[in-house]
Amino acid sequence: MTLEKFMAEHLPAIERELDQCLPPDDAYPEKLHQAMRYSTLGGGKRLRGLLAVASAEVAAKDRFPQVRPAAYRLAAAVEMLHAYSLIHDDLPCMDDDDFRRGKPSNHKVFGEAVAVLAGDALLTESFALLGQLADLGVPVEVVVTIVREMAHAGGSRGLIGGQAVDLDSEGKQISEETLKYIHTHKTGALFRAVVRCGALLGGASEEELAAVTRYADCFGLCFQITDDILDVVGDEAKLGKKVGSDAEQGKVTYVSLYGLEGARALAVKAMEEAKEAVAGLSGSEVLGSLAEYIVQRDH
Ligand code: IPE
Ligand code: IPE
Ligand code: MG
Ligand code: MG
Ligand code: MG
Repeated sequence: MTLEKFMAEHLPAIERELDQCLPPDDAYPEKLHQAMRYSTLGGGKRLRGLLAVASAEVAAKDRFPQVRPAAYRLAAAVEMLHAYSLIHDDLPCMDDDDFRRGKPSNHKVFGEAVAVLAGDALLTESFALLGQLADLGVPVEVVVTIVREMAHAGGSRGLIGGQAVDLDSEGKQISEETLKYIHTHKTGALFRAVVRCGALLGGASEEELAAVTRYADCFGLCFQITDDILDVVGDEAKLGKKVGSDAEQGKVTYVSLYGLEGARALAVKAMEEAKEAVAGLSGSEVLGSLAEYIVQRDH
């Protein structure tokens, strides 16, 4: 299947799932729920959600129709968790960014306190969605593994650890090793978890799980190097967020360490390694195309 067709089929379904899983705008306390919906719906590439579905499909093969509702629930959960991380990332005490997904950041619209709480609630609710996988035919032991992996990826030895070192490194000269830690944790951990959890939903074998894990790690690296590149050469209108933010905050990035051309070469290498990791799996074309898409992306 082509990536275009895959997206045409699954993006609207992921959006619908998110819409239905989030509390409505008029649920009390309204402002909190409006803030949660504001930053989650109607924006974003949905890469993590798409990866959940693609990975589930590769593992499930002919059984994908049975797994589909659970794959969409996982997609909604990871996109809610991701949206929380973006709301907090933009706060004045973090990256202090006023724009996200082409509109004012959550705290610019709802105020800092509500933005913090909306993030807290999105994170918590995402785990409620993972718990619901048990109602969608996923064996309880698989649900427990998925909750464990997602919690680990979102925790202090995952995304939060990466964010902490990212902030602590502002304005400092850091080593290649520290930069790698930041990237693999603030961004890579969630990609790894969602790809693995999608595969687990699909009933992946040990071999398949190992292959998609390798894929996800290369994908995450490629994705974050490209994010760093776009922060330098990207078009704000297309990106929907400010460029030059990293330099302004004194962040060490792949571009500051290796230069634009060096960073580009590393992104392409990671993309090729991602494709290679899953080349042996039948039905993995979409995963391969997604890796190509993120290195070529302009937003
Ligand atoms: C941006 O992620 C934040 C990082 C982890 C670098 P995305 O580029 O996937 O953001 P959306 O979801 O498409 O807005
Ligand atoms: C954000 O990384 C990572 C998380 C939100 C976990 P960045 O700070 O590089 O993301 P952007 O560039 O603001 O989207
Ligand atoms: Mg940041
Ligand atoms: Mg940021
Ligand atoms: Mg960035």
